[in-house]
Amino acid sequence: MSSGSKSEARKRHAELAVELRRHDEAYYIHARPTVSDQEYDRLYRELVELEKAHPELVTPDSPTQRVGGTPLSEFKPVQHLTPMLSLDNTYSQAEVRDFVGRVQRFLPNEKLDWILEPKVDGIAINLRYERGEFVLGATRGDGTTGDDITANLRTIRNLPVRLKSSTDGLPGLMEVRGEIYMTRAGFGKLNKARVARGEEPFANARNSAAGSLKQLDPRIVSKRPLALIVYGLGQVEGAEFASHDQVLAWLKACGFPGPEKTWHCSSVDALVEAINELDIIRHDFTYETDGAVIKLNSLAQRDRAGYTAKAPRWAMAYKYAAEQAETKLKGITIQVGRTGALTPVAELEPVFLAGSTISRATLHNEDELRRKDIRLGDTVTIEKAGEVIPAVVGVVLTKRTGVEIPFQFPKLCPECGGEIKRTTGGSGEAAAVWRCLNPDCPAQLRGRIGHWCARGAMDIEGGGEVLAIQLVNHKLVHDVADLYSLTMDQLLTVERMGQKSAQNFLNALEASKSRELWRLIFGLGILHVGAGVAKSLARAYASLDEIAAASVEQLTETEDIGDVIAESVCQWFGNPRNQALIQRLRAAGLNFKSSTFQVRATKGAISGKTFVLTGTLPNLKREEAAAKIEAAGGKVSGSVSKKTDYVVAGEEAGSKLAKAQELGVATLDEQGLLKLLEG
Ligand code: IVH
Repeated sequence: MSSGSKSEARKRHAELAVELRRHDEAYYIHARPTVSDQEYDRLYRELVELEKAHPELVTPDSPTQRVGGTPLSEFKPVQHLTPMLSLDNTYSQAEVRDFVGRVQRFLPNEKLDWILEPKVDGIAINLRYERGEFVLGATRGDGTTGDDITANLRTIRNLPVRLKSSTDGLPGLMEVRGEIYMTRAGFGKLNKARVARGEEPFANARNSAAGSLKQLDPRIVSKRPLALIVYGLGQVEGAEFASHDQVLAWLKACGFPGPEKTWHCSSVDALVEAINELDIIRHDFTYETDGAVIKLNSLAQRDRAGYTAKAPRWAMAYKYAAEQAETKLKGITIQVGRTGALTPVAELEPVFLAGSTISRATLHNEDELRRKDIRLGDTVTIEKAGEVIPAVVGVVLTKRTGVEIPFQFPKLCPECGGEIKRTTGGSGEAAAVWRCLNPDCPAQLRGRIGHWCARGAMDIEGGGEVLAIQLVNHKLVHDVADLYSLTMDQLLTVERMGQKSAQNFLNALEASKSRELWRLIFGLGILHVGAGVAKSLARAYASLDEIAAASVEQLTETEDIGDVIAESVCQWFGNPRNQALIQRLRAAGLNFKSSTFQVRATKGAISGKTFVLTGTLPNLKREEAAAKIEAAGGKVSGSVSKKTDYVVAGEEAGSKLAKAQELGVATLDEQGLLKLLEG
């Protein structure tokens, strides 16, 4: 293979990894998907194929190397008794045939009985019952450890908190696996109410369910139209089953809500038929169904078929393609976001698709527009998976007449007329974007105010997008610090703002002054600083002033922070405008102190340091060494980087030791480690 295509593969691999991680964060952490599942799966598959062809590109942090999202820090982590795996999935019926053939070859001469169930598009959860009583409920998290959301789950009405006593021999311990979903009708109502309050609507029912379960206050959760469906068991002590249909029947007898309908199939043809039948009836279910899950019925056969690292070999998900429609592209408008990014938006002839009328769809960025050669007047295909924000997939070239006009991307900001610049935005952005450079651009300002008030940031109730637009249009605020000098009289000049809502907003602003530091950092909207990075900063620094004073080098020593983010942070705090803003926020009495700050490397020699263990140590087992390091306040990581402080190397230490030497990281043997531990 030529070195050119190798370096191209490396480049594409990095792009895909960055993009998938960004989508993961949007999906799992912010409950706001940035792409359809199908598009995500396409990117993911491309990465898998690329790694197959170039195994040297597989890194431990590649998106292919983990099962799910990262657990949140606000909830207590809980370990599942048996891991929660994912499913291999496909959009092709031919691959379903391959899958069945594969399992049959694995279990030759055995009669296979398959069960097909609806794939519920909700949030996977694990429910623990002890002697029939619900004791613990958790999200899937990374598949091994999830968040303890017991209190939230207890509010869900069809979740049995005590199992029916008529069921013989309730097991001493059992884990029940299922999904929490939001009913479609409930989702529609909830979103209407959110918009009416000036809050951003949830993108779809699934994310609405995710957002609800992430609430720290169970009283809020209890008001959300959430429901449970179960489809299996994890660890069980004190009960035996031979088949999945026995499990389902027993769960039903215990009082659990099960799948709407299941199919028994003994051939591939029967499976394909069931898939097609489900596709017709799924639209009438009260929940979103994005596919079918095919599972072996016999538990003994499942054992024999076994598992890969991520998924069972005895099951597969078939996903229905996103629904598509054709319509005319009437125009293209440009939206300017809070960071100044210019996003082209398709203005469409209204068309009915997947339950609603669509008249706008995202075109992502200029490169996408060019790549797809989308012209004004074209007939385009739009796609909507579930209730995700619709996107233009491509042009129907056969319908092109020749009068269509290529779109000229603007040379200036369409909002303020300011200068725009094309940036790649560093590694945080996969695609090149145009940005408006004018910090006073009203569109950016509206975005910044809305972001500051958002629930995930300063959490200022009533300060949603609608109010942000009004405050900026009325020239009542020019930056977020202005919010804190707003008066009742000023607020009453805003349309539809009554005394009561104005007072509520003022109270919410007052309450926001004592928010945790990470919320303020996130709220500032510094490029590349998401909630996760903001939390890392607040753990590593005692106050906003310390962060502002840190150099790029110092910042990169913080967990999760690389050069791109560190530079962005430094640049932001170096800007005199932002310095003035910080002074005004200080004068308004906002909290600048971190309550999560952890003193670094001041106590023992171990505290705050990162270790990597490699090879076999003479006396200590690897887990023992790790436990000792962690007990002394150190961290154990799996891979060597320039943030590693020590590599502890034993017999047959391989590439990690070599990497440590290459990077100049200190290495220790077991004795050296023990000495350090003694202090
Ligand atoms: S069985 C070992 N059955 O889909 C995996 N999963 O893409 C067992 N899901 O994590 C999963 N409906 O959250 C199974 N009827 C169903 C399902 C279902 C939805 C979810 C589940 C799983 C994900 C995998």
